[in-house]
Amino acid sequence: MKLSYFHVAEDVPEDTNLDTAVVIDVLRATTTIAWALKNGAEAIQAFTNLTELKTEADKWPESLRVLLGERGGEMLQGFDLGNSPLGVQPKIVKGKRLFMSTTNGTRALNRVRDAEKLFTMALPNRSAVGNKIIRDQSKNVLILGSGWEGSYSLEDSLAAGGLAAFLIDKQPSLATVVNDELHSALALWQLWKDDLEGCLRIASHGKRLAGIGNHDHDFACCAELDKLNIVPSQTEPGVLRSI
Ligand code: MLT
Repeated sequence: MKLSYFHVAEDVPEDTNLDTAVVIDVLRATTTIAWALKNGAEAIQAFTNLTELKTEADKWPESLRVLLGERGGEMLQGFDLGNSPLGVQPKIVKGKRLFMSTTNGTRALNRVRDAEKLFTMALPNRSAVGNKIIRDQSKNVLILGSGWEGSYSLEDSLAAGGLAAFLIDKQPSLATVVNDELHSALALWQLWKDDLEGCLRIASHGKRLAGIGNHDHDFACCAELDKLNIVPSQTEPGVLRSI
């Protein structure tokens, strides 16, 4: 099993083998996706373009849709929810389709939407996704961070290192790290694995969130490791369900 990691969508080479892709946006899109599916959302449909999101959402019965969106960490005007994992409560999302757009997470998803298998991962569902990759006997696993507007993000690299560490631990003779980005993510994981929330808080997006309001509960939720047995998987282009 070959494992590689790219910091942002723009870094993924055109000719990359898209056998299995795992998209990570620890703060906070993929944490929100995992919790929304855990709390009974029918599916998450991800969009980079807001006009397309609204057009598709309008085709859906109003009682069965939730518009979830964020730019710069703040909820979009006219939307039902911002991008907090604490907002996707069962009473709001159960049985509903979430039409979602975020600054970076949905862009990363869009880059690898042609992958044979596409999962999203955050710290709470790291082992669930890792076990799914092992069960599938995936040969090439491309891990993709969301970053921030095309730049590196610490927290996504931390989680990429966490997934690689899990796979190497479970399959030492099969899992092979094939790029420097993932070696460095693994080193980051070794450094911070006992203080995940501390790492999230020193990250530039962590500081951005702290600067726009109190996000203590978001930090705690996004830093919880291996809590959710949820594997968000693309079942049709742009649509994620729990499998
Ligand atoms: C993103 O996609 O950039 C985010 O998840 C930002 C956030 O809401 O924290």
